[in-house]
Order: sequence, then C-alpha cells, then structure tokens
Amino acid sequence: MRKIDVVKGLLPATVVAGERGEAFAPSNIALCKYWGKRDRELNLPINASLSVSLAHLGSHTIVTESDTGADRVVLNGIEQSTDSKFARKVVEFVSLFRGDLQQPVLVSTENNIPTAAGLASSASGFAALMLALNQFYNLNLTDIELSACARMGSGSASRSIFTGFVEWQMGHRDDGMDSHAIVLDKPWPDLRIGLVKVTTAEKKVDSRAGMQRTVESAHLYQSWPLQAAADLEKLHLAIGQQDFMLLGETAEQNALSMHATMIASWPPLLYWQPESVAAMHKVWDLRAQGLQVYFTMDAGPNIKLLFQQQDEAALLEAFPELEVVAPFSS
Ligand code: ADP
Ligand code: DP6
Ligand code: CO
Repeated sequence: MRKIDVVKGLLPATVVAGERGEAFAPSNIALCKYWGKRDRELNLPINASLSVSLAHLGSHTIVTESDTGADRVVLNGIEQSTDSKFARKVVEFVSLFRGDLQQPVLVSTENNIPTAAGLASSASGFAALMLALNQFYNLNLTDIELSACARMGSGSASRSIFTGFVEWQMGHRDDGMDSHAIVLDKPWPDLRIGLVKVTTAEKKVDSRAGMQRTVESAHLYQSWPLQAAADLEKLHLAIGQQDFMLLGETAEQNALSMHATMIASWPPLLYWQPESVAAMHKVWDLRAQGLQVYFTMDAGPNIKLLFQQQDEAALLEAFPELEVVAPFSS
C-alpha cells in the first residue's frame, strides 16, 4: 500500500491549516533494535523493538505558512536547499497530511543532538514533525495514530511519540496501522544513559540503506529476528523486575548481534571507528573491575553507556566527556 492512501483514511474531509504547529520530541535509544523492513514504503519492521527515550535531547519543530510561496525547510537555523535529501524527505512527509491544501509551509527544526550520526535524529525529527503537523492542520490524531504515522517518516520515530520505555509492536496488517509504539509505564528513576560521542559527522551509509543492504546480502541476517524476539522477552523481564544486569547484558548482546549482521553484509558495513572499539574495551575492563556498566550502539560510531545513578561519578571519571541523560527524572 502507498503511504498517501493509508494517511487519507485518517484525514478530515477538508484539511484546514491553523497559525502554527510546534512540538518537541525526544530522541530514543533502542535496547532491542529495529533492523530490517518487511515493507519499505510504510517502514514496517521485521521485528519488534524496545527503546528508552532521551529526556531533553531531541528535536523541536515549528510548522507555519511559508512567506515565499514555496515550501521551505530550515535545520538548526540553516535554510536547506529544496533538492537536498533532508528537505525532500520533510516536504514529502508534510505532503501526506495537507490533503488538497496547496498552501506551502515553512518547517523550522532544531536538533540538540547531532544529525544523522547514529544518535537517532530521524526518530526525534519525524516524531516532532508529526506532532507539529497534527497541531498545524488540526488533525486530532490519537497517540497511536501519531505513532503509526511518524513511523512512515522514520521507523524509530514511532517510538519517539512516547517517553520512557517504549515498545514498537511490529503489527501484521498490510496498511501498517497496527505497527505502532506503546508506552510500558515502568519508570526506572536510577537508570542512566551516557553518550560517548566519537564523532558527530554524518554517516556515509544512512540507517535506511544500511538495513536494506543487510537484509539483502547477509545470510547471518536470518538469525536476527530470533535474537530480537528472545531479547525482547528478556527486556520485559528486566524492566518488570528492575534487574539491571539482565537489562544491560541483553541490550549489549542485542546491539553486537545487530552489528554482526551488518559486518556480514556485502559490501561490508562497519560503523565502528577505532575510538568506538576502544570504548567497548574500556566498558569490558570496567566491568571486570566490578562496575555495572554496559553499552549499546546504533548505526553510527557513537557508544551509549547504560548504568545506574550510583555509578555516575565513577563513569564520569572513566569517560570525562560523557554526556549523562536521566530518562526518568523530570
Ligand atoms: P540518525 O542516526 O541520526 O537517526 P538516520 O540516517 O537514521 O540517522 O537519519 C538521518 C535523517 O533523519 C536525516 O537525513 C533527515 O532525513 C532526518 N532528520 C534528522 N533530523 C530531523 C529533523 N529535525 N526533522 C526532520 N527530519 C530529520
Ligand atoms: C540502528 O529508524 O533510522 O537505530 O526507518 O529507515 O528511517 P528508517 O530507519 P531508522 O533506523 C534505526 C536503526 C537503529 C535501531 C533502532 O533505533 O531501533
Ligand atoms: Co535514524
């Protein structure tokens, strides 16, 4: 099915624009990763995934009427050229929701995380855009519909409509409307995420191309859905019992399993830099010394540490540049 046909069923008979739509959405880090699509048009995943949101880190987006007679996209104060990939993706997404309305828009968005560097800017970016469009066009979509629609912009964005621990259910319908996120409502106040920024440069192969390459060329990928399903179960257990060791072990093994499938692709896909590998060894050394710290990694060279509040000082000493996020404290 085409996106436009799926969205059509959700829009009012006549779409009317308001003055302004404005929203923030947090980025999120998957503990059980989304890697591989069963439908590339609708971003329907091969496996369910589970993430934790990154509090104040994410995207802030404002949608208004354009004053130039053409669609405009501004990222971090910089006008994006109309034929840039960034602007095209944003405008294509907006066009799904404006019905017959031909009015051009100005989308102005700020990321307080690096863009396209494996810190899930596509998740916060498309979730914030979806929330802003819902306001601007008075769509009155439910959270579930917002999540399913944000998914069509970027899969991981389905999870950024919610905060805390969030599960994206894979769904089974052809129109994908049952493939949306749900919130787990299991706060874990002591949980901390530490961002080890290796580089903020844009990756050469984006997540979309990376997962397609893996699905199409890595025999090892066949093991991935099984790994993900088993890890999802373990994460539910870990979150339910606040079992930090189980959470950390599962997230780390899940991330490395995903990366194993990428490395087994052709051409090979290795997002790691020497500094990423050094950080992994440091985590393993610290763990051998008795510190409870684990890591996860997305499609990029940056490492995310998982630890608990009680170990924050020790980790700041080991990683002086660490940016610490407390997902559950307001
Ligand atoms: P990341 O690891 O940052 O999610 P991806 O390759 O998945 O990297 O996605 C990067 C893409 O996400 C960008 O090229 C752009 O299309 C989209 N994106 C990032 N930030 C925003 C934003 N604030 N608003 C809209 N789209 C965004
Ligand atoms: C490794 O959601 O960025 O971060 O759906 O093509 O936009 P598209 O991909 P995207 O993929 C994220 C992949 C990941 C794992 C995850 O966040 O679950
Ligand atoms: Co992304």
